[in-house]
Amino acid sequence: MEQYIIKGGKPLAGEVCIGGAKNAALGILAAAVMADETVTIENLPDIRDINVLLQAIQEIGATVERVDRHTAKINGANIHSVIVDNDYIRRIRASYYMLGSLLGKYKHAQVAFPGGCNIGSRPIDQHIKGFEALGAQVQIQHGLIQAEAAKLTGSHIYLDCASVGATINIMMAACLADGQTIIENPAKEPHVVDVANFLNSMGANIKGVGTDVIRIRGVEKLHGSTYSIIPDQIEAGTFMLAAAATKGDVLVKNVIPKHLEALTAKLIEIGAEVEQFDDALRVVATRRLSHTHVKTLPYPGFPTDMQPQMTSVLAYSEGTSIVTESIFENRFKYVDELARMGASIKVEGNTAIIDGVGRMTGAIVSAPDLRAGAALVIAGLAAEGITVVEQVEYIERGYEEFERKMRELGAAMEKADSEDEKALLKFRLKVG
Ligand code: UD1
Repeated sequence: MEQYIIKGGKPLAGEVCIGGAKNAALGILAAAVMADETVTIENLPDIRDINVLLQAIQEIGATVERVDRHTAKINGANIHSVIVDNDYIRRIRASYYMLGSLLGKYKHAQVAFPGGCNIGSRPIDQHIKGFEALGAQVQIQHGLIQAEAAKLTGSHIYLDCASVGATINIMMAACLADGQTIIENPAKEPHVVDVANFLNSMGANIKGVGTDVIRIRGVEKLHGSTYSIIPDQIEAGTFMLAAAATKGDVLVKNVIPKHLEALTAKLIEIGAEVEQFDDALRVVATRRLSHTHVKTLPYPGFPTDMQPQMTSVLAYSEGTSIVTESIFENRFKYVDELARMGASIKVEGNTAIIDGVGRMTGAIVSAPDLRAGAALVIAGLAAEGITVVEQVEYIERGYEEFERKMRELGAAMEKADSEDEKALLKFRLKVG
């Protein structure tokens, strides 16, 4: 187990370069095995969830060549098994994308029931409904989701909720179905669009992605491609909020500003300056920020994956803020950890009422999940004194070299083995 040790109170300053989008990469890697030709994927983030999925597709027979840290060549010609299951894959959410890709290609898939962050119940009924509409039989047995079809036929599917995972999964399977599939009420997140663009680069025929209706005309097979993944809007947003919380001045590079509009608008509303460039955003905060109301919504609304980090910023801001979580039912577990640092937050149902405190102090806290872990780091960077964030394994699922990037912005932050009793002492001696 590892931990971050942070000495807070220093404004972040400088430039940070954002990596490829985790949630796009997960869908794209799963889709990559659908061709029998080589697919080259660039701008892959080197993070735990991605490496688990790469290993899983290798285990079923795909060849995976890591050309460099952020580029992989994948060839799905020699897949010998449609069973995707191991200890690691059971812990990630995106394992379910192997259902859509293998079902599309081989009309049969058996995949471990998805894990992922514990942020409330995460049903997969919409995925199953979509596969069944395409003609598959789906069963859950012995911890595996099994989907099988004699043939897949295009269908008209109305999603009850705009699920990212279900939209991507149905798109993948429908690409190789007979005839036309229409998905109504699909998710419109940038990573959904990116997966569709990737599938189209392999010869799929997907139209309307990013709008309220997706139309997919099935093709015989998919071919090789070279594709570069979009920047990670959540990593970018996390650095923007870290800059705001520490009263810093940070240029966040390699982003698509349009994908960050909901966050940018909120930052401006609470008093930060956000300067927009073609592929970068500069966030400057010179004074204590103000309060606001935030409600998480599907894209283009405020992303649920930025909710904990935003709450950390509002915990320091002036006045009372209200944050409403409308996507997941249990996404405020980190609030108890922020309370150890002096935050004043009351949770009632899916709403957090935040009385901004001007000052928080470092404490030992534990990351309950990926984005909540990032929120605790932000709080620690802005707090007085030393914060220890335990269970950084969660954070590393989604952030590549988080502590190095923070250090390059001037943060006093290190990663240490949680068992190393001298780590804290050494850190204190180093940072003074
Ligand atoms: C993806 C992201 C996650 C992000 C979330 C919402 C990945 C790997 N993860 O998760 O980081 O927080 O989108 O932007 O891309 N739902 C159902 N039935 C279903 C599917 C979903 O009721 O079959 C509900 C969920 O409980 C939730 C909502 O729909 O309330 C959205 O979930 P969904 O978009 O599917 O999230 P994930 O794809 O799991």
